[in-house]
Amino acid sequence: MGMGEETRRAFVIVGHTQPTTPDFTLNDLPGSAGRLDVLARCVTAAFCLSHGLRKDVEVFLVLRDEVVVRFVGARLKRLNPDERSTGALIKHALQALQEGRAQSTPGVAVARWGLGEVLQELRSRGFSLYVLDEGGEDIREADLAARNAFVLSDHRNFTPEEETLLQEYPKLSLGPRVLHADHCIPIVHNELDRRFSPE
Ligand SMILES: C[S@@+](CC[C@H](N)C(=O)[O-])C[C@H]1O[C@@H](n2cnc3c(N)ncnc32)[C@H](O)[C@@H]1O
Repeated sequence: MGMGEETRRAFVIVGHTQPTTPDFTLNDLPGSAGRLDVLARCVTAAFCLSHGLRKDVEVFLVLRDEVVVRFVGARLKRLNPDERSTGALIKHALQALQEGRAQSTPGVAVARWGLGEVLQELRSRGFSLYVLDEGGEDIREADLAARNAFVLSDHRNFTPEEETLLQEYPKLSLGPRVLHADHCIPIVHNELDRRFSPE
């Protein structure tokens, strides 16, 4: 899917109900587009700063374990903070996939992959993988490396098959309350921003 070697933080969001084809309307992301709004908010939460984008981040959206849309901060363009325009980037990626292209807009790639392939790619690139889970070790106490990947679910729980793929990775907690997926990402960024100086 093309490398992002500058990447130091990756987020893998496992989506269970979102479309894998571009036949959805941007006017109804939370409804007929199967909660695509959740994934769009995760993308903006991962990249958007007040003035600019985080370049050292990658996001993998896993759609029904069939399709993966990948955003690479080092090359990403046309990302705005609103959900609708992010939904449009995802729609363009799914259109590209239908037309047999692996790249859509700058910094956005797409493949017929599932969660297993994403985990394998991140491992092979030397990332330390963690699953975000409220029952895990407190992130404040965790000895994190400089190059990490964090896996989280959308508005649903991980399926048993996903749990099996993820069971070998340590779980990290962001606190005792169950949060929305898109609210988890800035907490992780904040923890790492405080530990590692920005590039
Ligand atoms: C809305 S939750 C998923 C549904 C949730 N399991 C439930 O009981 O309704 C979205 C994801 O955010 C992450 N998450 C939520 N709260 C968390 C916390 N306190 N610590 C770590 N991860 C959390 C988990 O990865 C979770 O799968």
